[in-house]
Amino acid sequence: MKVLVTGASGFFGGRLCHALLRDGHSVRAFVRLSSNLSYLPTRLDNVALEITYGDITDYPSLLEACVGCNVVFHAAAVVESWLRDPSMFFSVNVGGLKNVLRAYKETDTIEKIVYTSSFFALGSTDGHIADESQMHTGKYFCTEYEKSKTIADKIALDAAKEGVPIVSVCPGVMYGPGKLTCGNMLVRTFVERFNGRLPGYLGDGSDRFSFVHVDDVVTSHISAMEKGQIGERYLLTGENASFNEAFDIASTITNTKRSWLNIPLFMIELYGWLFVLFCLITGKPPLVSPPAVDTMRHQWAYSCEKAKRDLNYKPRSLSEGLKEVFPWLKNMGAIKY
Ligand SMILES: NC(=O)c1ccc[n+]([C@@H]2O[C@H](COP(=O)([O-])OP(=O)(O)OC[C@H]3O[C@@H](n4cnc5c(N)ncnc54)[C@H](OP(=O)(O)O)[C@@H]3O)[C@@H](O)[C@H]2O)c1
Repeated sequence: MKVLVTGASGFFGGRLCHALLRDGHSVRAFVRLSSNLSYLPTRLDNVALEITYGDITDYPSLLEACVGCNVVFHAAAVVESWLRDPSMFFSVNVGGLKNVLRAYKETDTIEKIVYTSSFFALGSTDGHIADESQMHTGKYFCTEYEKSKTIADKIALDAAKEGVPIVSVCPGVMYGPGKLTCGNMLVRTFVERFNGRLPGYLGDGSDRFSFVHVDDVVTSHISAMEKGQIGERYLLTGENASFNEAFDIASTITNTKRSWLNIPLFMIELYGWLFVLFCLITGKPPLVSPPAVDTMRHQWAYSCEKAKRDLNYKPRSLSEGLKEVFPWLKNMGAIKY
């Protein structure tokens, strides 16, 4: 099977490429000239990995990459909570998917597209646990990222109705060893915390996110390629917990003291505005932003029963997943405990 992976240089895409190669697939990684490829296998690893350069917004480069591929894993996206130029979310996250769909129509080898959507595309779940039947109300978006992924999700579902063989998978908040991009937010938050830059709990702990180990998401993308039903969405979520609960699990695993301080969200939001101001000058994406804090004022709790049933999805618990992450961070010298 010849497989194209967009977003191959990212936190998730890199792990997906490794797993596909381990399973014996021939992988073409679609990356940008500026991409950091340090988490991808190298030629020395003697694997069937082909690197192809382009940009998801540059249709000819994507079309060329698609030629001869049987499956496309479309994971490329701008994954940030705030950007100086918000139109990037739409040109890449929405325009990129449209280009993939166009390339499908103009090539004759693609049998399946596995699109990496997001839990954000289903909307918040304040007070309940949602499944795949929930559609985003579209009335309010915490972030432009959420809005772009919601629009793209709808495009994927509509394309399936028109006969495109596309399956959407909606991961929860991914974490795990690998690249520390904005997509690996939980682990980045731990790095801040264990280096003394985040001295307390985040708000009152009423937030809920569905935390999932990146490798569980990877395995289920491969299952979605093999057995995912066209036009279906599968939530690849995990343990529904607050950031503060994740901090407590981290303290237990590392045998470190729990914090006594509770930082109100409005203070983190003020800090976020400072970051945004700094970013307006430097152009670098902020670590914390007011829209990201807004997501913490909501709950994003999901059930993954459908993926368990249909894709043999077996997400590990947060505690199990973090037991792997902390020694990895420590060995890397990113944290001490
Ligand atoms: N992380 C999560 O918690 C989470 C949760 C749900 C869904 N998702 C979805 O999972 C996917 C992967 O996310 P991630 O966490 O791995 O994010 P990531 O680490 O930021 O990776 C994003 C990837 O997209 C690529 N990309 C961005 N703009 C591009 C462009 N114009 N042309 C080609 N490639 C481009 C990046 O390339 P460069 O390396 O060159 O920047 C990178 O390879 C995304 O679709 C995201 O929406 C993520």
